[in-house]
Amino acid sequence: MRGLLDDGERERYERFRQPQDKARFVTGRFLARTALAEATGLDPRTMRFTTECPHCAGAHGKPRLPGSAVDFSLSHSGDRVVIALTEGAEVGVDVEKENDRDIDRLAEMVLAAPERAALAAMDDKRRGFHRYWSRKEALLKATGHGLAAPMTDIHVSAPDDPAEVVAWAGEAAVSPVRLADLDPGPGYAAAAAVLTDRPLKITEVTC
Ligand SMILES: CC(C)(COP(=O)(O)OP(=O)(O)OC[C@H]1O[C@@H](n2cnc3c(N)ncnc32)[C@H](O)[C@@H]1OP(=O)(O)O)[C@@H](O)C(=O)NCCC(=O)NCCS
Repeated sequence: MRGLLDDGERERYERFRQPQDKARFVTGRFLARTALAEATGLDPRTMRFTTECPHCAGAHGKPRLPGSAVDFSLSHSGDRVVIALTEGAEVGVDVEKENDRDIDRLAEMVLAAPERAALAAMDDKRRGFHRYWSRKEALLKATGHGLAAPMTDIHVSAPDDPAEVVAWAGEAAVSPVRLADLDPGPGYAAAAAVLTDRPLKITEVTC
């Protein structure tokens, strides 16, 4: 798999200290190349991604395949690596392994006031919190802001309701946008966001 990485990716690969970080990174880039090759007909061995940030011109932007109408987004957590592909619309995807982080403290940084109130009444706060988190990070990855934009500006529907944006204030806010929960298996939450007004048709494939 490492043979498919370009020079910059190989440098990043070498900088990861933990074997699991190396594995997640190389798996994601391999998955991106194979999925994009299938979608575009391009050769995965010569595919190069750009990472320019449109907001500040830094190199931490959303990875893109220049010259293609196919957009993609990658996410990894625990032993899951997820890629989402769309044609003609920006996409963001996020997967989160549920863990025992201090949810009350994190909720202050991640959730809008009505979401914090809803979370407080939930039996399974860990599950609810991670579902909120994955939806919001998917939205901010679709716009390319990532965690540089405040998650508390976004208010999404309750974890057991169909995923949608209820309200979004602030500079990163976009409209129209569609949101969907994915099915990454027990102990994980995942969501995809697409900057479109068209209903989403999602095909999930597990390898
Ligand atoms: C994007 C980001 C939210 C992902 O964080 P994470 O939860 O640790 O990681 P995930 O596994 O969910 O996603 C990682 C993938 O997101 C993608 N990604 C990186 N930057 C991105 C961005 N700005 N927007 C969308 N996707 C991005 C990459 O494909 C990355 O995978 P890679 O390591 O194989 O390259 C985080 O890296 C971030 O906030 N980056 C900073 C963006 C920034 O500084 N913006 C400034 C705007 S001025």
